[in-house]
Amino acid sequence: MNKKMFSLNKSLTLLLCLTVGLSVFAQHTTIKRMGAADTQSFDDNWLFSRFGSQADGLVKEEPKNLEAVSTNEANWEKLNLPHDWAIKGPFRIELRGETGKLPWKGIGWYRKHFTVPASDSGKQIFVDFDGAMANAKIYLNGNYVGTWPYGYNSFRMNLTPFLKFGQENILAVRLDTENWDSRWYPGAGIYRHVWLVKTNPVHVGHWGTYITTPNIRKDAADIRVMVKVDNATDKTVKAVVTTDLYEMDIHNTPKTKVGSLITSTLEIKANGTEEAETHSVLNNPKLWDLKTPNRYVAQTKVSVDGKVVDTYNTPFGVRTIEFTPRNGFLLNGKRVEIFGTCNHHDLGALGAAINTSALKRQLGMLKEMGCNSLRTSHNPPAPELLELADKMGFLVWDEAFDAWKIGKKKLDYNLIFVEWHEKDLIALTHRDRNNPSVFIWSIGNEVPDQQNVKLTKELADIMRSEDPTRPVSNGYNDPDGGRSSGAVVALDVMGVNYFFDQQPKWDVDPRYEKKPTIGSETASTVSSRGEYFFDDKYNKTTWQISSYDDAFPGWGCSPDIQFRTNAKYPHLLGEYVWTGFDYLGEPTPYNSDETNLLNFRTDPSKQAELEAKLAELQKSNPPSRSSYFGIIDLAGFPKDRYYSYKSHWRPDVPTAHILPHWNWSERVGKVVPVHVYTSGDEGELFLNGKSLGRKKMEAGKDFRLMWEDVVYAPGELKVVCYKKGKKWATDVVKTTGAATKIKMAADRTEVLADDVDLVFITVDISDNEGLMVPRSNPLVKFSIEGAGEIVATDNGDATSFVPFQSTERPAYNGKVLAIVKAKKEQKGQFTVKAESEGLQAAATTIRIK
Ligand code: GAL
Repeated sequence: MNKKMFSLNKSLTLLLCLTVGLSVFAQHTTIKRMGAADTQSFDDNWLFSRFGSQADGLVKEEPKNLEAVSTNEANWEKLNLPHDWAIKGPFRIELRGETGKLPWKGIGWYRKHFTVPASDSGKQIFVDFDGAMANAKIYLNGNYVGTWPYGYNSFRMNLTPFLKFGQENILAVRLDTENWDSRWYPGAGIYRHVWLVKTNPVHVGHWGTYITTPNIRKDAADIRVMVKVDNATDKTVKAVVTTDLYEMDIHNTPKTKVGSLITSTLEIKANGTEEAETHSVLNNPKLWDLKTPNRYVAQTKVSVDGKVVDTYNTPFGVRTIEFTPRNGFLLNGKRVEIFGTCNHHDLGALGAAINTSALKRQLGMLKEMGCNSLRTSHNPPAPELLELADKMGFLVWDEAFDAWKIGKKKLDYNLIFVEWHEKDLIALTHRDRNNPSVFIWSIGNEVPDQQNVKLTKELADIMRSEDPTRPVSNGYNDPDGGRSSGAVVALDVMGVNYFFDQQPKWDVDPRYEKKPTIGSETASTVSSRGEYFFDDKYNKTTWQISSYDDAFPGWGCSPDIQFRTNAKYPHLLGEYVWTGFDYLGEPTPYNSDETNLLNFRTDPSKQAELEAKLAELQKSNPPSRSSYFGIIDLAGFPKDRYYSYKSHWRPDVPTAHILPHWNWSERVGKVVPVHVYTSGDEGELFLNGKSLGRKKMEAGKDFRLMWEDVVYAPGELKVVCYKKGKKWATDVVKTTGAATKIKMAADRTEVLADDVDLVFITVDISDNEGLMVPRSNPLVKFSIEGAGEIVATDNGDATSFVPFQSTERPAYNGKVLAIVKAKKEQKGQFTVKAESEGLQAAATTIRIK
């Protein structure tokens, strides 16, 4: 497969959703989820019990046959999904930093009692899991239904053979994270949504539609819809398949009808499947792009004997993608440089449990920074991520694995690779190949067998056979080795983690000169928000890292160095920064677990250096439990380099940002270097009104303004930035007074009482003037009155062992966050209060919509 295909083959895609409880699709009915019209949330009213390793480290023996109908559930916990059993901790110092020092290992059993009305008898009943960590085994009424080991993939179980219509049924799920390993916090439990799907026996199969746009002209797009129809009856049927196309708005409501596909008739044998291929022309298509992410929905109906028996919704978008070796990536024919971030799946204080509201907040911050692409490192994402990316205008690098046959950890994917890789890759493509945001498939990340030519080809070919419209890539930590071995020949796009400087050599190698290259991982700069050190970048007493954005591991670099490198190779596709957000686990450079230091590095001299570092760290046993890599901290507060990326990625938005803060009473008369990130090209710095000089940045070389010799005096530091000689942006930091009050800002004033919608409340510890006091860490106590509840708190401190569910938390460098929600199905309002001894309290009221 080849670039040619991408340039000619205008792919497209969709957003997967479904209408709830409707057998006939009504226009203007909001689609909750792609797929069968009758798809209902199956998240509520589960019972949970944990065996094996417990939160406190003790072991509780797992009784046999917990799937049995007769199981005694007296002591089981009642809960709603999504659920991450490990996020409530406690953090334990002896647990591994790489997985967040949280007790995620264990055996989890979930049970749910439910009834399907007798009137549904004869229907097919499925349960769809968006993801369950890990080694899921599913039982219905004591009978084994099936398994799906890989915790990041979505899968369907057919309950029909064991279901009792009109009577109580018991669905039981066994999860086992004891037999799973990870290099970051994976979470544990049914941490994504679950759905109950009802269809007639003749119906569109699971992920049974595939929409492409093989040809897009200015005024029309050819639409091709493949529809797989299953016949679960014991006789041959004639099924008539029709598909109508509608425009779809941001709320997933179908609007104007814009076309119909040619009807096709399938003759499907008893218990067989047939596929219909239908076509249409969409006139004047509204293209999906990053600024106007227009979407459509294809509504497919299957009729037997003149009666509609199934309705299936497939959201999609129309856009072209083209990858060129010399002119980067083109979206709808226009060059888009990839300004990407890698992100793990956890949502900080909420753990791995998916929450659309929290994810939307994250993506909103990334978008504001100018990020235009997301790498789902290193696993299939929640479907909600793709839906949000489709709606908000992000391109997605959709990734399958962190390990193949040779593991990075004893119990990682290597255990199941042989039996499961094909099934997992097919599940990933079938689920995601209609999303317009998905533009690259990635078969791996720094897999130890990345030089295996045969395996690389095999995996890439599986992806291509399921979706030839997108390129296949792989993230290499040894790009030289990957290319020398020839493994990269099998890929369409070369993914290079960190080693961009080798590019010139590959640009002249006939095997690779035509292979587009992307920085699948870059930078890995580490810092702690609001910390600035002057002698060493690292503080091994507090386990924090200076925020001058100049600290990084041996394989990483600062954002500036990476921008400089990118400027040298403008023909490459762009970069994915490691990472957008801090995440749970992998607290490099304070990780005292051997894997993170040792598992990638092939250079023996590096290994020796890393081993020495590891031995030192193991002696001091750092409490660090989350990463320092984020451009934004774990609580969602931007670190300084947020403004570096924003300046570079959104050059037309006036930005100026000074660092550090200006509260250095112990450094009066001493030097405090001042740096400024700006989208301008020049700036003049003033301390208490006196100019400290004007500095310029050379395009492609400098990415911050630096005044390295500023002698500290309290007062006001101001920068006036210029662009092409004209005044462009300013920033001011002031020495604050003592902390006297709490300032509170909620990210909204209204919330839905649906158990999902969240309000994020930022508390600033402030002085009399309302300025946030840096380096202030008082204990803040949150309380709530009315129909709301506090879900979690955080402050972005990577070393804190305060449980995320605690309503009391010290501020970290002047800031603390409370995440609140309305009580389910309640009306009215609630008031959140924040108090701290000696400070004036604050409160904010949220109305329930
Ligand atoms: C990369 C790896 C990532 C993460 C990162 C930290 O080599 O692919 O998963 O470990 O290093 O810098």
